[in-house]
Amino acid sequence: MTHQTLLLGQTLHFDGNPLTGDWRDTVRIDSAGGVLIENGRIAATGPADRLRAAHGAAEVVDYGRDLICPGFIDAHAHHPQTAMIASWGKRLIDWLNTYTFPEEERFADADYAATIAERYLDLTRAAGTTTMCSFATIHPASVDAFFAAAAVRDQCVVTGKTCMDRNAPEDLRDTAQSAYDDSKALLERWHGTGRAHYAITPRFSPTSTPEQLDALGALWDEHPECLMQTHLSEQPDEVAWVRGLYPDARDYLDTYEAHGLIGARALYGHTIHLEPREIARLSEVGAAVVHCPTSNAFIGSGQFNLGRLRDAGVRMGLATDTGGGSSFSMLRTMAAAYEAAQHHGVALHAAQLMWLATAGSADALHLGHEIGTVRAGYAADLTVLDLKSTPAIAQRANRSNDVWEDVFATIMMGDDRAVRDTWIAGKR
Ligand code: GUN
Ligand code: ZN
Repeated sequence: MTHQTLLLGQTLHFDGNPLTGDWRDTVRIDSAGGVLIENGRIAATGPADRLRAAHGAAEVVDYGRDLICPGFIDAHAHHPQTAMIASWGKRLIDWLNTYTFPEEERFADADYAATIAERYLDLTRAAGTTTMCSFATIHPASVDAFFAAAAVRDQCVVTGKTCMDRNAPEDLRDTAQSAYDDSKALLERWHGTGRAHYAITPRFSPTSTPEQLDALGALWDEHPECLMQTHLSEQPDEVAWVRGLYPDARDYLDTYEAHGLIGARALYGHTIHLEPREIARLSEVGAAVVHCPTSNAFIGSGQFNLGRLRDAGVRMGLATDTGGGSSFSMLRTMAAAYEAAQHHGVALHAAQLMWLATAGSADALHLGHEIGTVRAGYAADLTVLDLKSTPAIAQRANRSNDVWEDVFATIMMGDDRAVRDTWIAGKR
């Protein structure tokens, strides 16, 4: 008989998008729930008593009052920036030139790329993150290193070779043709292999020539099964720079659109300083925007207007943007998302924050049928949260009237100490 594991605890379930209606209609916590795992997948969920009785041979892990959630999904990160996270005193363009590009140059060394891939996956796993969509460097070997490290852990990840053929140091530049060729070879090697997913990855319009954007648009047209990730409208200086580089474009989004880099499987990081046409177009094509709140605060980019984009019907995910973001933790990122929305008069409920960090990000990555939800048939990628992980959080939780107050306190004040366990493909 195949091995079964039965996790018992409080279990978090989604039946839809809680951002767009009353969250009570789509989110619930079962206070005595269970999750049965078999062959890396969730085989059943339900009341603890019923699952225990029906699956007497299963190995039981009893988490008591801990919360069993979908594993966190970070929809936009730069794992190569792991070692230079929290670098002081710059804004986007000089932050890239001063800190980011020199660090990414080190990835010419494939051993270094492998070391950082391992370190990043260790750190994020400790923070409860089971899937991420990351920008590798321009070096194809950095993509190989990341997918290979994730495969050993049986981890569902998305990455792609970052493409840049101008406005970057010489040894971080490819060409339109080599970006096309290398990206094509990588996606043919990796996309759909095990749990690997490829994203065609132009860094952003300022570091690509129109010829390179064209080449990558053509590649995406040939491989529409892949995602496409980039950055859009993060800082005012950047937006002005794009206007100068692409004088014929209607707006920043149009610099992608004109080269075929728009569609339902597109992911645009940041999207803070958008024009009305851009918002309407993102909604119309079903593209996803990715909210990176700790990064937006840390690099001084501005406030993402979640309510405005939600009301326009734009899909969205949540992300650390490590290392422009100042944390590897999606708990910290949810807290920053709460704070950013407060600036616009929107008070996100803990249920909505948890959804953004799990099922919402999964939907943005078009993986919502596989990950992001605790439901039979889904991958057993789970994060177990201790809702009293520090004295400060425990004393607040002792005052709570319901479990959501506990969850909110852990979101606002929790870190990797709150992550009791991370399960990836059914393994702890
Ligand atoms: N825009 C282009 N590249 C980057 C990057 O690495 N981080 C952030 N935050 N924004 C970018
Ligand atoms: Zn980014």
